[in-house]
Amino acid sequence: MSHKIVVTRSLPEDLLAPLHEQARLVVWPYEETPMPYRDLKQELQDADALFCNVTDTIDQELIESAPKLKVIATMAVGYNNIDIPVCQKHGIKVAHTPDVLTETTADLTFTLLLSSARRVTEGEALIKNNQWQTWAPFFHTGVDIYEQRLGIIGMGRIGEAVARRAQGFSMDICYYNRSRNETAEQELGAAYLSFQEVLSSSDFVCVQTPLTPETKYLLDRKALFTMKEGSVLINTSRGGVIDEQALYEALVDGPVGAAGLDVFEDEPISSDHPLLQLPQVTATPHIGSATVATRRKMAAMTVRHIQQVLAGGSPEYAVV
Ligand code: DGY
Repeated sequence: MSHKIVVTRSLPEDLLAPLHEQARLVVWPYEETPMPYRDLKQELQDADALFCNVTDTIDQELIESAPKLKVIATMAVGYNNIDIPVCQKHGIKVAHTPDVLTETTADLTFTLLLSSARRVTEGEALIKNNQWQTWAPFFHTGVDIYEQRLGIIGMGRIGEAVARRAQGFSMDICYYNRSRNETAEQELGAAYLSFQEVLSSSDFVCVQTPLTPETKYLLDRKALFTMKEGSVLINTSRGGVIDEQALYEALVDGPVGAAGLDVFEDEPISSDHPLLQLPQVTATPHIGSATVATRRKMAAMTVRHIQQVLAGGSPEYAVV
């Protein structure tokens, strides 16, 4: 067995079995605790492949202390935690897992949209805290979803899947993207608007753009304060795309009526974070792709990517 593969989280044995057959595996033994950076750095010194995930920071120092590394396969579509230019410089292939998680992530995006619009978690808290006194004409009213305008920031695979769901609610769909998306326009009837127009005219804004140096704080104070009065903001991409302090202000003193957030700048977010004190914020713990079936597909694809590179080929879904 000439190859060594480092896996940064414990995974079901059957998923890793194909790798066991052809390499020596070092698997971090815990599922709920990330592999510490120093242990990872140590193990990578003589490793050929790395199976990682969103919680691992794969920076220049780590990459340059792994002279034999041929492939970094992340069990995620997002790869903002990996220094791609440094991988490129050292000829290390990087692979990720798009497609298999698209529909599952779009489902959670829509769950947050529906839940935020109709104040589901707030209502549940009322009942559980014994604070529901009676039915009243305008008690716990929310906003309509049907025939409202949905703005999608980042019209890639997941953006399109969100738009398909919105069609079922007869929503008027618009989007902003770096470049125009013909499928979205022709098949989903989405109108291409400027970033400002999407923000100022949409009743719901879903953020689906990856985190890159260009999209960091894309939704800053200025952008958030141009949103439509009472609108709902949903983020299932990466926390860093939104300035959280500015979002807090836009929810308290500005136009944003509610937010549904699955991702945060620092994860896990602390329970005393100001955003979590607001009843109009619905929060989930980075579970966009978290169904058993989808996570199994993501893990299996990550295994395949490692096999493909160690066999001398290219990964099915290469970043570089
Ligand atoms: C991804 O794939 O990037 C998700 O955020 C992790 O599930």
